[in-house]
Amino acid sequence: MKRILVTGAAGQIGTELTSSLVARFGPGGILATDVRDPASWASECPAEQLDCLDLDALRDTVTRFGATAIHHLAAILSVTAEADPVRAYRINMNGLVNVLQVAAECGCRVFVPSSIAAFGPGTPRDPAPQSTLQRPTTMYGVTKVAGELLCDYYHSRFGVDARGLRFPGLISYAAPPGGGTTDYAVEIFHAALRDGRYTCFLRADTRMDMMYMPDAIRAVIEVMEAPPDRLTHRNAFNITAMQFTPAELATEIRAHVPGFRIGYDPDPLRQSIADSWPSRLDDSEAREQWGWRHEYELPDMVADMFRGLNAQRAPRAAVSAGR
Ligand code: SER
Repeated sequence: MKRILVTGAAGQIGTELTSSLVARFGPGGILATDVRDPASWASECPAEQLDCLDLDALRDTVTRFGATAIHHLAAILSVTAEADPVRAYRINMNGLVNVLQVAAECGCRVFVPSSIAAFGPGTPRDPAPQSTLQRPTTMYGVTKVAGELLCDYYHSRFGVDARGLRFPGLISYAAPPGGGTTDYAVEIFHAALRDGRYTCFLRADTRMDMMYMPDAIRAVIEVMEAPPDRLTHRNAFNITAMQFTPAELATEIRAHVPGFRIGYDPDPLRQSIADSWPSRLDDSEAREQWGWRHEYELPDMVADMFRGLNAQRAPRAAVSAGR
């Protein structure tokens, strides 16, 4: 029986991945953990506070739960990492090596997200091939490349079945993103509903690779279920869904929020990070090796974001109306 321990379960990916794992395997098979106290976040399954930097605590929790897999989502994203690069290095690298070490000792499989940030300005931009130059210029990217290598090392040296995906920017309404360069593509929806306008921290023509969260979650589940003999890559597969600029996203949003206005005030740090990443990943190897297919294009994603956000706002609106 599968028993999956999720780290970073209260984060942007963790929140939705945990729900999907609970729906698929039942609440008894999942343990949600996060460095934040579970009293501050909701989980549909047993939840505990856990700091992956504490190797003994991690080992105890994995052993006590009898985990067969660890989905390791605890990490610092690109913009937050630049504010304190040493802290980001410590959390992203030491957390990962602890997870891999415990997985080797306890016989667990491991999922680790990589990112489009594992590429840099020397990588072909459109598309970035699966195997190509990886010389990122951010600390987040450095930890993602090193993390991919570490996962491959634990696989070849200790037989840990570690698998990963290079995610593009992820968009969802369930949980807020936590300090990434692609966060504008989530903030813009909240601002559209709240204010009817948004000031973007990237230039109007910054084309970036993006994916709607339900596709990303399905990709995690599918890559972990793929027969191992079909995988020639493990860490990590390029996957992609859609590419758009802030101006193109604003046009699509206007179909749902007439009169929506967007302005631009590019932030030098975030603009330089965005400019250093490819605008599209070539995901043909994921398509061939484990049948990856995205479902959501830009118009479907925008429509579903508004459906989800409006459903979240409805109870609040009803409470204010009843006051
Ligand atoms: N969404 C992430 C970020 O912007 C990229 O992996 O940092």
